[in-house]
Amino acid sequence: LSLFLPALKMIRCLQRVLYLSVLVAFAACNAPPVPSDDIFIEKTFVPEQCVRAVKVSDFVRYHYNGTLLDGTLFDSSHTRMRTYDTYVGIGWLIAGMDQGLLGMCVEERRIITMPPSLGYGENGDGSDIPGQASLVFDVVLLDLHNPRDGITVTNQIVPESCTRKTVAGDFVRYHYNGSLLDGTFFDSSYSRNHTYDTYVGRGYVIAGMDEGLIGVCVGERRTITIPPHLAYGEEGTGTKIPGSAVLVFDIHIIDFHNPSDTTEVTVTYKPEECDKKTKKGDFVKYHYNASLLDDTSIDSTYNYGKTYNIVLGVNQVVPGMEDGLMDMCVGERRHVVIPPHLGYGERGVTDEVPGSAVLVFDIELVEMEEGLPEGYMFIWNEDVSPDLFSEMDKDNNEQVEPSEFTDYILRQVNEGKGRLAPGFDPYRIIDNMFSNQDRNGDGKITEEEFKLKADEASAHDEL
Ligand SMILES: *[C@@H]1O[C@H](CO)[C@@H](O)[C@H](O)[C@H]1NC(C)=O
Ligand SMILES: *[C@@H]1O[C@H](CO)[C@@H](O)[C@H](O)[C@H]1NC(C)=O
Ligand SMILES: *[C@@H]1O[C@H](CO)[C@@H](O)[C@H](O)[C@H]1NC(C)=O
Ligand SMILES: *[C@@H]1O[C@H](CO)[C@@H](O)[C@H](O)[C@H]1NC(C)=O
Repeated sequence: LSLFLPALKMIRCLQRVLYLSVLVAFAACNAPPVPSDDIFIEKTFVPEQCVRAVKVSDFVRYHYNGTLLDGTLFDSSHTRMRTYDTYVGIGWLIAGMDQGLLGMCVEERRIITMPPSLGYGENGDGSDIPGQASLVFDVVLLDLHNPRDGITVTNQIVPESCTRKTVAGDFVRYHYNGSLLDGTFFDSSYSRNHTYDTYVGRGYVIAGMDEGLIGVCVGERRTITIPPHLAYGEEGTGTKIPGSAVLVFDIHIIDFHNPSDTTEVTVTYKPEECDKKTKKGDFVKYHYNASLLDDTSIDSTYNYGKTYNIVLGVNQVVPGMEDGLMDMCVGERRHVVIPPHLGYGERGVTDEVPGSAVLVFDIELVEMEEGLPEGYMFIWNEDVSPDLFSEMDKDNNEQVEPSEFTDYILRQVNEGKGRLAPGFDPYRIIDNMFSNQDRNGDGKITEEEFKLKADEASAHDEL
Protein backbone atom coordinates (compact mmCIF):
# COMPACT_ATOMS: atom_id res chain seq x y z
CA LEU A 1 0.00 0.00 0.00
CA SER A 2 2.81 2.35 0.95
CA LEU A 3 4.16 1.81 -2.49
CA PHE A 4 0.78 1.82 -4.20
CA LEU A 5 -0.38 5.26 -3.02
CA PRO A 6 2.56 7.27 -4.31
CA ALA A 7 2.30 5.36 -7.56
CA LEU A 8 -1.41 6.23 -7.86
CA LYS A 9 -0.61 9.86 -7.12
CA MET A 10 2.03 9.74 -9.78
CA ILE A 11 -0.40 8.34 -12.35
CA ARG A 12 -3.04 10.90 -11.45
CA CYS A 13 -0.47 13.62 -11.72
CA LEU A 14 0.65 12.36 -15.11
CA GLN A 15 -2.98 12.15 -16.21
CA ARG A 16 -3.49 15.72 -15.20
CA VAL A 17 -0.38 16.87 -17.04
CA LEU A 18 -1.52 14.93 -20.09
CA TYR A 19 -5.01 16.36 -19.86
CA LEU A 20 -3.69 19.86 -19.50
CA SER A 21 -1.25 19.49 -22.36
CA VAL A 22 -4.01 18.17 -24.58
CA LEU A 23 -6.05 21.22 -23.62
CA VAL A 24 -3.13 23.51 -24.34
CA ALA A 25 -2.55 21.80 -27.63
CA PHE A 26 -6.24 21.99 -28.48
CA ALA A 27 -6.33 25.64 -27.61
CA ALA A 28 -3.27 26.32 -29.67
CA CYS A 29 -4.52 24.47 -32.70
CA ASN A 30 -8.19 25.19 -32.77
CA ALA A 31 -9.67 27.36 -30.16
CA PRO A 32 -9.96 31.05 -30.67
CA PRO A 33 -7.68 33.10 -28.51
CA VAL A 34 -10.31 34.08 -26.05
CA PRO A 35 -10.03 36.36 -24.26
CA SER A 36 -7.87 38.35 -26.64
CA ASP A 37 -8.19 41.47 -28.78
CA ASP A 38 -7.36 39.69 -32.01
CA ILE A 39 -9.42 37.95 -34.64
CA PHE A 40 -8.48 34.45 -35.59
CA ILE A 41 -8.74 33.36 -39.21
CA GLU A 42 -8.77 29.82 -40.46
CA LYS A 43 -8.77 29.40 -44.26
CA THR A 44 -10.80 26.32 -45.01
CA PHE A 45 -10.66 26.68 -48.78
CA VAL A 46 -8.28 28.65 -50.95
CA PRO A 47 -8.89 28.62 -54.72
CA GLU A 48 -5.96 27.82 -56.99
CA GLN A 49 -6.34 31.07 -58.84
CA CYS A 50 -6.66 34.34 -57.06
CA VAL A 51 -6.71 37.24 -59.48
CA ARG A 52 -7.50 39.72 -56.78
CA ALA A 53 -7.96 39.90 -52.99
CA VAL A 54 -10.26 42.08 -50.92
CA LYS A 55 -8.86 45.50 -50.07
CA VAL A 56 -10.20 48.36 -47.98
CA SER A 57 -13.20 50.03 -49.72
CA ASP A 58 -13.94 47.05 -51.95
CA PHE A 59 -17.53 45.92 -52.28
CA VAL A 60 -18.11 42.23 -51.60
CA ARG A 61 -20.91 39.69 -51.78
CA TYR A 62 -20.61 36.72 -49.47
CA HIS A 63 -22.51 33.99 -47.71
CA TYR A 64 -22.00 33.38 -44.03
CA ASN A 65 -23.18 31.44 -41.00
CA GLY A 66 -22.67 33.21 -37.68
CA THR A 67 -22.42 31.08 -34.53
CA LEU A 68 -21.49 31.55 -30.92
CA LEU A 69 -18.48 29.70 -29.53
CA ASP A 70 -20.73 26.84 -28.44
CA GLY A 71 -22.01 26.41 -31.98
CA THR A 72 -25.37 28.15 -31.58
CA LEU A 73 -26.33 29.64 -34.94
CA PHE A 74 -27.42 33.25 -34.48
CA ASP A 75 -27.56 34.40 -38.10
CA SER A 76 -27.08 33.16 -41.63
CA SER A 77 -27.28 34.77 -45.05
CA HIS A 78 -28.87 31.54 -46.26
CA THR A 79 -32.03 32.16 -44.26
CA ARG A 80 -32.54 35.28 -46.40
CA MET A 81 -31.62 33.33 -49.53
CA ARG A 82 -29.25 36.00 -50.73
CA THR A 83 -25.69 37.06 -50.26
CA TYR A 84 -24.70 39.71 -47.79
CA ASP A 85 -23.49 42.67 -49.84
CA THR A 86 -21.34 45.37 -48.33
CA TYR A 87 -18.25 47.55 -48.41
CA VAL A 88 -15.26 46.25 -46.50
CA GLY A 89 -12.90 48.12 -44.19
CA ILE A 90 -14.81 51.38 -43.95
CA GLY A 91 -16.98 50.77 -40.93
CA TRP A 92 -20.08 49.31 -42.54
CA LEU A 93 -19.40 46.03 -40.73
CA ILE A 94 -18.49 45.06 -37.17
CA ALA A 95 -14.76 45.55 -36.76
CA GLY A 96 -14.03 41.80 -36.74
CA MET A 97 -15.59 41.35 -40.14
CA ASP A 98 -14.04 44.52 -41.54
CA GLN A 99 -10.67 42.97 -40.70
CA GLY A 100 -11.52 39.35 -41.30
CA LEU A 101 -12.60 39.76 -44.92
CA LEU A 102 -9.46 41.61 -46.02
CA GLY A 103 -7.19 39.63 -48.31
CA MET A 104 -9.91 37.19 -49.25
CA CYS A 105 -10.26 35.87 -52.82
CA VAL A 106 -13.42 34.95 -54.67
CA GLU A 107 -14.40 31.37 -53.75
CA GLU A 108 -12.15 31.42 -50.69
CA ARG A 109 -13.70 30.16 -47.48
CA ARG A 110 -12.73 31.28 -44.01
CA ILE A 111 -13.76 30.79 -40.44
CA ILE A 112 -13.33 34.12 -38.72
CA THR A 113 -13.42 34.07 -34.95
CA MET A 114 -13.53 37.36 -33.10
CA PRO A 115 -13.60 38.54 -29.50
CA PRO A 116 -16.60 40.56 -28.27
CA SER A 117 -14.57 43.73 -28.50
CA LEU A 118 -14.50 43.32 -32.32
CA GLY A 119 -18.08 42.00 -32.43
CA TYR A 120 -21.04 43.35 -30.49
CA GLY A 121 -19.16 44.09 -27.24
CA GLU A 122 -20.61 44.18 -23.75
CA ASN A 123 -24.21 44.51 -24.78
CA GLY A 124 -24.48 41.98 -27.55
CA ASP A 125 -27.11 42.39 -30.24
CA GLY A 126 -30.79 41.74 -29.75
CA SER A 127 -31.86 38.47 -28.26
CA ASP A 128 -29.58 36.30 -30.39
CA ILE A 129 -26.14 37.61 -29.40
CA PRO A 130 -25.52 37.89 -25.68
CA GLY A 131 -23.14 40.44 -24.18
CA GLN A 132 -19.46 39.58 -24.14
CA ALA A 133 -19.95 36.95 -26.86
CA SER A 134 -17.14 35.81 -29.08
CA LEU A 135 -18.44 35.22 -32.59
CA VAL A 136 -17.54 32.67 -35.23
CA PHE A 137 -18.33 33.42 -38.87
CA ASP A 138 -18.09 30.79 -41.56
CA VAL A 139 -17.72 32.88 -44.73
CA VAL A 140 -17.48 32.15 -48.43
CA LEU A 141 -16.73 35.04 -50.77
CA LEU A 142 -18.69 35.07 -54.05
CA ASP A 143 -17.99 38.42 -55.57
CA LEU A 144 -15.66 41.35 -55.30
CA HIS A 145 -15.21 44.70 -56.98
CA ASN A 146 -14.37 48.28 -56.30
CA PRO A 147 -16.70 51.13 -57.25
CA ARG A 148 -13.75 52.72 -59.04
CA ASP A 149 -13.25 49.64 -61.27
CA GLY A 150 -13.63 49.84 -65.02
CA ILE A 151 -14.04 46.81 -67.18
CA THR A 152 -11.11 44.44 -67.65
CA VAL A 153 -10.32 42.57 -70.82
CA THR A 154 -8.36 39.33 -70.54
CA ASN A 155 -7.72 36.07 -72.43
CA GLN A 156 -7.62 37.86 -75.75
CA ILE A 157 -7.17 35.69 -78.81
CA VAL A 158 -6.85 37.94 -81.85
CA PRO A 159 -6.75 36.36 -85.31
CA GLU A 160 -3.56 37.17 -87.21
CA SER A 161 -5.47 38.47 -90.18
CA CYS A 162 -7.16 41.35 -88.46
CA THR A 163 -7.48 44.30 -90.77
CA ARG A 164 -10.31 46.07 -89.04
CA LYS A 165 -11.43 46.63 -85.47
CA THR A 166 -14.84 47.70 -84.23
CA VAL A 167 -15.56 51.35 -83.56
CA ALA A 168 -18.61 52.97 -81.99
CA GLY A 169 -21.60 52.70 -84.32
CA ASP A 170 -20.60 49.33 -85.77
CA PHE A 171 -23.07 46.49 -85.69
CA VAL A 172 -21.64 43.35 -84.12
CA ARG A 173 -22.77 39.73 -84.10
CA TYR A 174 -21.17 37.69 -81.33
CA HIS A 175 -21.55 34.64 -79.18
CA TYR A 176 -21.10 34.76 -75.44
CA ASN A 177 -21.12 32.74 -72.26
CA GLY A 178 -22.02 34.80 -69.22
CA SER A 179 -21.11 33.83 -65.67
CA LEU A 180 -20.64 35.37 -62.27
CA LEU A 181 -17.20 35.75 -60.68
CA ASP A 182 -17.58 32.51 -58.75
CA GLY A 183 -18.23 30.66 -62.02
CA THR A 184 -22.01 30.47 -61.73
CA PHE A 185 -23.31 30.42 -65.30
CA PHE A 186 -26.23 32.74 -66.00
CA ASP A 187 -26.72 33.01 -69.76
CA SER A 188 -25.34 32.04 -73.12
CA SER A 189 -26.14 33.00 -76.69
CA TYR A 190 -25.48 29.38 -77.67
CA SER A 191 -28.57 28.25 -75.78
CA ARG A 192 -30.60 30.23 -78.32
CA ASN A 193 -28.60 28.96 -81.33
CA HIS A 194 -28.26 32.57 -82.31
CA THR A 195 -25.62 35.22 -82.07
CA TYR A 196 -26.31 38.29 -80.02
CA ASP A 197 -26.60 41.15 -82.51
CA THR A 198 -26.22 44.78 -81.54
CA TYR A 199 -24.81 48.19 -82.31
CA VAL A 200 -21.83 49.01 -80.12
CA GLY A 201 -20.97 52.23 -78.36
CA ARG A 202 -24.53 53.47 -78.65
CA GLY A 203 -26.08 52.35 -75.36
CA TYR A 204 -28.00 49.35 -76.69
CA VAL A 205 -26.19 47.01 -74.30
CA ILE A 206 -24.92 47.44 -70.73
CA ALA A 207 -22.18 50.07 -70.50
CA GLY A 208 -19.43 47.56 -69.78
CA MET A 209 -20.31 45.46 -72.80
CA ASP A 210 -20.57 48.55 -74.97
CA GLU A 211 -17.00 49.34 -74.03
CA GLY A 212 -15.71 45.76 -74.18
CA LEU A 213 -16.94 45.32 -77.73
CA ILE A 214 -14.92 48.27 -79.06
CA GLY A 215 -11.65 47.46 -80.78
CA VAL A 216 -12.43 43.81 -81.46
CA CYS A 217 -11.64 41.91 -84.66
CA VAL A 218 -13.75 39.37 -86.50
CA GLY A 219 -12.98 35.98 -84.97
CA GLU A 220 -11.52 37.49 -81.81
CA ARG A 221 -12.19 35.95 -78.42
CA ARG A 222 -11.89 37.85 -75.17
CA THR A 223 -13.11 37.78 -71.61
CA ILE A 224 -14.76 40.97 -70.44
CA THR A 225 -15.19 41.42 -66.70
CA ILE A 226 -17.75 44.06 -65.85
CA PRO A 227 -18.37 45.60 -62.42
CA PRO A 228 -22.04 46.03 -61.46
CA HIS A 229 -22.09 49.81 -61.91
CA LEU A 230 -21.35 49.16 -65.62
CA ALA A 231 -23.77 46.22 -65.75
CA TYR A 232 -27.06 45.69 -63.91
CA GLY A 233 -26.23 47.70 -60.80
CA GLU A 234 -27.54 47.07 -57.31
CA GLU A 235 -30.78 45.71 -58.65
CA GLY A 236 -29.53 42.92 -60.85
CA THR A 237 -32.06 41.25 -63.12
CA GLY A 238 -34.48 39.37 -60.96
CA THR A 239 -33.46 35.75 -60.72
CA LYS A 240 -30.59 35.41 -63.15
CA ILE A 241 -28.19 38.13 -62.09
CA PRO A 242 -28.03 39.09 -58.40
CA GLY A 243 -27.79 42.73 -57.39
CA SER A 244 -24.26 44.20 -57.31
CA ALA A 245 -22.85 41.25 -59.22
CA VAL A 246 -19.68 41.40 -61.27
CA LEU A 247 -20.27 39.76 -64.66
CA VAL A 248 -17.81 37.77 -66.72
CA PHE A 249 -18.49 37.42 -70.43
CA ASP A 250 -16.49 35.13 -72.67
CA ILE A 251 -17.21 36.45 -76.13
CA HIS A 252 -16.47 35.35 -79.67
CA ILE A 253 -16.92 37.90 -82.46
CA ILE A 254 -18.64 36.34 -85.47
CA ASP A 255 -18.83 39.40 -87.67
CA PHE A 256 -19.39 43.12 -87.73
CA HIS A 257 -20.06 45.91 -90.17
CA ASN A 258 -21.01 49.55 -90.21
CA PRO A 259 -24.31 50.77 -91.64
CA SER A 260 -22.28 53.13 -93.86
CA ASP A 261 -20.25 50.26 -95.37
CA THR A 262 -20.37 49.80 -99.12
CA THR A 263 -19.62 46.65 -101.05
CA GLU A 264 -15.92 45.89 -100.89
CA VAL A 265 -14.59 44.58 -104.19
CA THR A 266 -11.07 43.21 -104.54
CA VAL A 267 -9.87 41.95 -107.90
CA THR A 268 -8.00 38.73 -107.30
CA TYR A 269 -7.26 37.88 -110.92
CA LYS A 270 -7.39 40.01 -114.03
CA PRO A 271 -6.95 38.43 -117.48
CA GLU A 272 -4.50 40.14 -119.83
CA GLU A 273 -7.28 40.99 -122.19
CA CYS A 274 -9.91 42.76 -120.18
CA ASP A 275 -11.47 45.43 -122.35
CA LYS A 276 -15.06 44.34 -122.63
CA LYS A 277 -16.60 45.04 -119.27
CA THR A 278 -19.97 44.30 -117.80
CA LYS A 279 -22.62 46.97 -117.46
CA LYS A 280 -26.29 47.26 -116.65
CA GLY A 281 -28.47 45.08 -118.87
CA ASP A 282 -25.74 42.57 -119.71
CA PHE A 283 -26.47 38.90 -119.28
CA VAL A 284 -23.67 37.39 -117.18
CA LYS A 285 -22.78 33.85 -116.18
CA TYR A 286 -20.56 33.44 -113.16
CA HIS A 287 -19.34 31.02 -110.54
CA TYR A 288 -19.31 31.85 -106.88
CA ASN A 289 -18.31 30.49 -103.50
CA ALA A 290 -20.28 32.20 -100.76
CA SER A 291 -19.37 32.21 -97.10
CA LEU A 292 -19.76 34.21 -93.91
CA LEU A 293 -17.00 36.27 -92.32
CA ASP A 294 -16.20 33.39 -89.94
CA ASP A 295 -15.55 31.20 -93.02
CA THR A 296 -18.76 29.21 -92.70
CA SER A 297 -19.56 28.18 -96.24
CA ILE A 298 -23.08 29.12 -97.35
CA ASP A 299 -23.33 28.05 -100.93
CA SER A 300 -21.38 27.49 -104.08
CA THR A 301 -22.27 27.17 -107.75
CA TYR A 302 -19.79 24.30 -107.86
CA ASN A 303 -22.33 22.30 -105.82
CA TYR A 304 -24.69 22.51 -108.77
CA GLY A 305 -22.13 22.08 -111.50
CA LYS A 306 -23.31 25.14 -113.40
CA THR A 307 -22.92 28.88 -113.45
CA TYR A 308 -25.34 31.34 -111.95
CA ASN A 309 -26.85 33.47 -114.72
CA ILE A 310 -28.40 36.88 -114.32
CA VAL A 311 -29.15 40.12 -116.11
CA LEU A 312 -27.20 42.89 -114.44
CA GLY A 313 -28.94 45.90 -112.96
CA VAL A 314 -32.49 44.57 -112.80
CA ASN A 315 -32.56 43.37 -109.17
CA GLN A 316 -32.13 39.69 -109.93
CA VAL A 317 -29.48 39.56 -107.19
CA VAL A 318 -28.87 41.55 -104.00
CA PRO A 319 -27.47 45.08 -104.56
CA GLY A 320 -24.04 44.10 -103.22
CA MET A 321 -23.75 41.39 -105.82
CA GLU A 322 -24.73 43.84 -108.56
CA ASP A 323 -21.86 46.03 -107.35
CA GLY A 324 -19.53 43.06 -107.33
CA LEU A 325 -20.32 42.07 -110.91
CA MET A 326 -20.12 45.52 -112.54
CA ASP A 327 -17.22 46.58 -114.79
CA MET A 328 -15.90 43.05 -114.83
CA CYS A 329 -14.47 41.15 -117.77
CA VAL A 330 -14.74 37.48 -118.62
CA GLY A 331 -12.12 35.45 -116.75
CA GLU A 332 -11.75 38.04 -114.02
CA ARG A 333 -11.98 36.89 -110.38
CA ARG A 334 -13.03 38.96 -107.44
CA HIS A 335 -13.40 38.81 -103.69
CA VAL A 336 -16.59 40.63 -102.75
CA VAL A 337 -17.62 41.54 -99.20
CA ILE A 338 -21.25 42.57 -98.89
CA PRO A 339 -22.66 44.26 -95.77
CA PRO A 340 -26.13 43.03 -94.78
CA HIS A 341 -27.94 46.20 -95.87
CA LEU A 342 -26.71 45.41 -99.42
CA GLY A 343 -27.25 41.69 -98.88
CA TYR A 344 -30.06 39.86 -97.13
CA GLY A 345 -30.67 42.46 -94.43
CA GLU A 346 -31.77 41.87 -90.88
CA ARG A 347 -33.87 38.89 -91.82
CA GLY A 348 -31.29 36.86 -93.71
CA VAL A 349 -32.43 33.72 -95.47
CA THR A 350 -33.96 30.97 -93.36
CA ASP A 351 -31.45 28.20 -92.63
CA GLU A 352 -28.89 29.74 -94.97
CA VAL A 353 -27.91 33.29 -94.15
CA PRO A 354 -28.20 34.56 -90.57
CA GLY A 355 -29.89 37.92 -90.12
CA SER A 356 -27.53 40.92 -90.37
CA ALA A 357 -24.70 38.76 -91.67
CA VAL A 358 -21.87 40.08 -93.79
CA LEU A 359 -21.47 37.95 -96.93
CA VAL A 360 -18.28 37.01 -98.68
CA PHE A 361 -18.39 35.98 -102.33
CA ASP A 362 -15.49 34.76 -104.40
CA ILE A 363 -16.67 35.12 -107.96
CA GLU A 364 -15.42 34.37 -111.44
CA LEU A 365 -17.07 35.79 -114.55
CA VAL A 366 -17.38 32.95 -117.06
CA GLU A 367 -19.43 34.43 -119.89
CA MET A 368 -21.24 37.61 -120.79
CA GLU A 369 -23.69 38.70 -123.45
CA GLU A 370 -24.11 42.38 -124.06
CA GLY A 371 -27.49 43.73 -123.09
CA LEU A 372 -29.72 46.12 -125.04
CA PRO A 373 -29.75 49.86 -124.40
CA GLU A 374 -31.67 50.72 -121.27
CA GLY A 375 -35.44 50.42 -121.69
CA TYR A 376 -35.33 48.17 -124.75
CA MET A 377 -36.29 44.53 -124.86
CA PHE A 378 -35.90 44.26 -128.65
CA ILE A 379 -33.86 46.26 -131.13
CA TRP A 380 -33.24 46.18 -134.85
CA ASN A 381 -29.70 45.64 -135.95
CA GLU A 382 -30.40 47.26 -139.28
CA ASP A 383 -32.96 49.61 -140.83
CA VAL A 384 -36.55 48.68 -140.23
CA SER A 385 -38.43 47.38 -143.24
CA PRO A 386 -40.95 50.00 -144.47
CA ASP A 387 -43.41 47.21 -145.06
CA LEU A 388 -43.42 45.65 -141.60
CA PHE A 389 -47.15 45.13 -141.30
CA SER A 390 -47.66 43.24 -144.52
CA GLU A 391 -44.49 41.19 -143.89
CA MET A 392 -45.98 40.07 -140.63
CA ASP A 393 -49.46 39.51 -141.96
CA LYS A 394 -48.56 36.28 -143.67
CA ASP A 395 -52.15 35.27 -144.49
CA ASN A 396 -53.04 38.76 -145.72
CA ASN A 397 -56.16 39.03 -143.60
CA GLU A 398 -55.39 42.64 -142.61
CA GLN A 399 -54.52 41.71 -139.09
CA VAL A 400 -51.54 40.20 -137.29
CA GLU A 401 -52.26 37.31 -134.97
CA PRO A 402 -49.95 36.43 -132.06
CA SER A 403 -48.46 33.43 -133.90
CA GLU A 404 -47.65 35.56 -136.95
CA PHE A 405 -46.10 38.16 -134.72
CA THR A 406 -44.01 35.66 -132.77
CA ASP A 407 -42.82 33.85 -135.89
CA TYR A 408 -41.80 37.12 -137.47
CA ILE A 409 -39.81 38.42 -134.49
CA LEU A 410 -38.06 35.10 -133.94
CA ARG A 411 -37.13 34.99 -137.61
CA GLN A 412 -35.59 38.48 -137.42
CA VAL A 413 -33.58 37.38 -134.40
CA ASN A 414 -32.39 34.17 -136.09
CA GLU A 415 -31.39 36.06 -139.22
CA GLY A 416 -29.45 38.55 -137.14
CA LYS A 417 -31.66 41.45 -138.14
CA GLY A 418 -32.96 42.06 -134.63
CA ARG A 419 -31.96 41.29 -131.08
CA LEU A 420 -33.95 40.42 -127.96
CA ALA A 421 -32.70 41.44 -124.51
CA PRO A 422 -30.50 38.56 -123.32
CA GLY A 423 -31.29 36.66 -120.16
CA PHE A 424 -35.09 36.83 -120.40
CA ASP A 425 -37.67 34.41 -121.78
CA PRO A 426 -38.03 35.46 -125.46
CA TYR A 427 -41.70 34.40 -125.57
CA ARG A 428 -42.55 36.63 -122.65
CA ILE A 429 -40.80 39.57 -124.27
CA ILE A 430 -42.66 38.94 -127.55
CA ASP A 431 -45.97 38.58 -125.71
CA ASN A 432 -45.33 41.94 -124.12
CA MET A 433 -44.47 43.52 -127.42
CA PHE A 434 -47.66 42.15 -128.92
CA SER A 435 -49.82 43.47 -126.07
CA ASN A 436 -48.22 46.88 -126.47
CA GLN A 437 -49.27 47.00 -130.11
CA ASP A 438 -52.70 45.50 -129.55
CA ARG A 439 -54.26 48.71 -128.24
CA ASN A 440 -57.80 47.45 -127.85
CA GLY A 441 -56.67 44.12 -126.44
CA ASP A 442 -58.71 42.03 -128.86
CA GLY A 443 -55.86 39.60 -129.53
CA LYS A 444 -54.92 40.89 -132.94
CA ILE A 445 -53.13 43.93 -134.32
CA THR A 446 -54.66 45.95 -137.10
CA GLU A 447 -52.73 48.25 -139.39
CA GLU A 448 -54.29 51.19 -137.55
CA GLU A 449 -53.07 49.95 -134.17
CA PHE A 450 -49.69 49.30 -135.68
CA LYS A 451 -49.34 52.89 -136.88
CA LEU A 452 -50.66 54.42 -133.71
CA LYS A 453 -48.04 52.66 -131.72
CA ALA A 454 -45.28 53.51 -134.13
CA ASP A 455 -46.16 57.21 -133.99
CA GLU A 456 -45.78 57.37 -130.25
CA ALA A 457 -42.38 58.30 -128.95
CA SER A 458 -42.36 55.58 -126.32
CA ALA A 459 -38.91 54.11 -125.94
CA HIS A 460 -40.12 50.73 -124.81
CA ASP A 461 -40.35 47.60 -126.87
CA GLU A 462 -40.44 49.48 -130.15
CA LEU A 463 -40.89 47.89 -133.48
C1 LIG B 1 -23.68 27.73 -43.84
O1 LIG B 1 -24.71 26.80 -43.66
C2 LIG B 1 -25.30 26.30 -44.82
C3 LIG B 1 -26.47 25.43 -44.43
O2 LIG B 1 -26.09 24.53 -43.47
C4 LIG B 1 -24.24 25.58 -45.63
O3 LIG B 1 -24.80 25.14 -46.85
C5 LIG B 1 -23.09 26.53 -45.92
O4 LIG B 1 -22.07 25.85 -46.62
C6 LIG B 1 -22.55 27.08 -44.63
N1 LIG B 1 -21.44 27.99 -44.83
C7 LIG B 1 -21.47 29.11 -45.54
C8 LIG B 1 -20.21 29.88 -45.60
O5 LIG B 1 -22.45 29.52 -46.11
C1 LIG C 1 -30.37 24.54 -80.92
O1 LIG C 1 -29.88 23.54 -81.80
C2 LIG C 1 -29.84 22.26 -81.23
C3 LIG C 1 -29.16 21.32 -82.21
O2 LIG C 1 -29.46 21.66 -83.54
C4 LIG C 1 -31.27 21.81 -80.89
O3 LIG C 1 -31.24 20.54 -80.27
C5 LIG C 1 -31.87 22.82 -79.91
O4 LIG C 1 -33.22 22.50 -79.66
C6 LIG C 1 -31.81 24.23 -80.49
N1 LIG C 1 -32.24 25.20 -79.49
C7 LIG C 1 -33.05 26.22 -79.76
C8 LIG C 1 -33.40 27.10 -78.63
O5 LIG C 1 -33.50 26.41 -80.88
C1 LIG D 1 -19.14 28.87 -74.38
O1 LIG D 1 -19.20 27.61 -73.78
C2 LIG D 1 -19.22 26.55 -74.71
C3 LIG D 1 -19.40 25.27 -73.91
O2 LIG D 1 -18.49 25.21 -72.88
C4 LIG D 1 -17.94 26.54 -75.53
O3 LIG D 1 -18.00 25.51 -76.49
C5 LIG D 1 -17.82 27.87 -76.24
O4 LIG D 1 -16.63 27.95 -76.97
C6 LIG D 1 -17.89 29.00 -75.23
N1 LIG D 1 -17.90 30.26 -75.97
C7 LIG D 1 -17.13 31.29 -75.67
C8 LIG D 1 -17.32 32.50 -76.49
O5 LIG D 1 -16.31 31.25 -74.78
C1 LIG E 1 -14.59 28.03 -105.22
O1 LIG E 1 -14.04 26.98 -104.45
C2 LIG E 1 -13.53 25.93 -105.24
C3 LIG E 1 -13.15 24.82 -104.30
O2 LIG E 1 -12.38 25.32 -103.26
C4 LIG E 1 -12.36 26.45 -106.07
O3 LIG E 1 -11.85 25.41 -106.86
C5 LIG E 1 -12.85 27.57 -106.94
O4 LIG E 1 -11.78 28.14 -107.66
C6 LIG E 1 -13.51 28.64 -106.11
N1 LIG E 1 -14.13 29.61 -107.02
C7 LIG E 1 -13.99 30.91 -106.90
C8 LIG E 1 -14.73 31.73 -107.88
O5 LIG E 1 -13.30 31.41 -106.04
